[in-house]
Amino acid sequence: MATVDTGDEVIIMEPFFECFEHNVRTAGGIPRFVPLKPKENADGTQTNDWVLDYDHLESLFNTKTKAIIVNTPHNPLGKVFTYEELSQIARLCKKWNVVCISDEVYQFLVYGSKKHVSMASLPDMWERTITVCTAGKIFAATGWKLGWAYGPSHLIANLQLIHFSSVRAGNTFLQAVDP
Ligand SMILES: Cc1ncc(COP(=O)(O)O)c(C=O)c1O
Repeated sequence: MATVDTGDEVIIMEPFFECFEHNVRTAGGIPRFVPLKPKENADGTQTNDWVLDYDHLESLFNTKTKAIIVNTPHNPLGKVFTYEELSQIARLCKKWNVVCISDEVYQFLVYGSKKHVSMASLPDMWERTITVCTAGKIFAATGWKLGWAYGPSHLIANLQLIHFSSVRAGNTFLQAVDP
């Protein structure tokens, strides 16, 4: 709601955490879907066998694209996006001046040789990335519904506006924290 206006397009990878589509529609945005598909000759049982078709992804970007939602580690696949994969997405975000909403709530649930990479850590991505986290996952307390977002002040200022107006409207569930 802080970033997307009516008619703005938001790219979502399928399959996805089911809130994403509702979040976009609630803000008046239009979701545009791109599938993660098993690699050729892979049976899909290895999470990182699920990959993006970059040509398909690129074909969705246009002047109406406001944001892309990236979720790594991924729910429901468990895929941990590599630096190279995130770089491809970052390249398109920069080319089309698009915000990346990076849902990294599972960042500490990474096993074996896999390594979590934050989209905001890629070159020139801090300025266009809002990173979303939740205490529910980090502290295995999913009922808490206590989360936070961080990013550059020009993007976070919009989140604060939404939080403050929501609190003023009597919604004590959304509490804004003054940084
Ligand atoms: C990808 C993803 N993002 C965000 C959330 C929301 O986390 P919470 O329930 O702690 O608010 C979930 C919860 O399952 C999730 O899977």
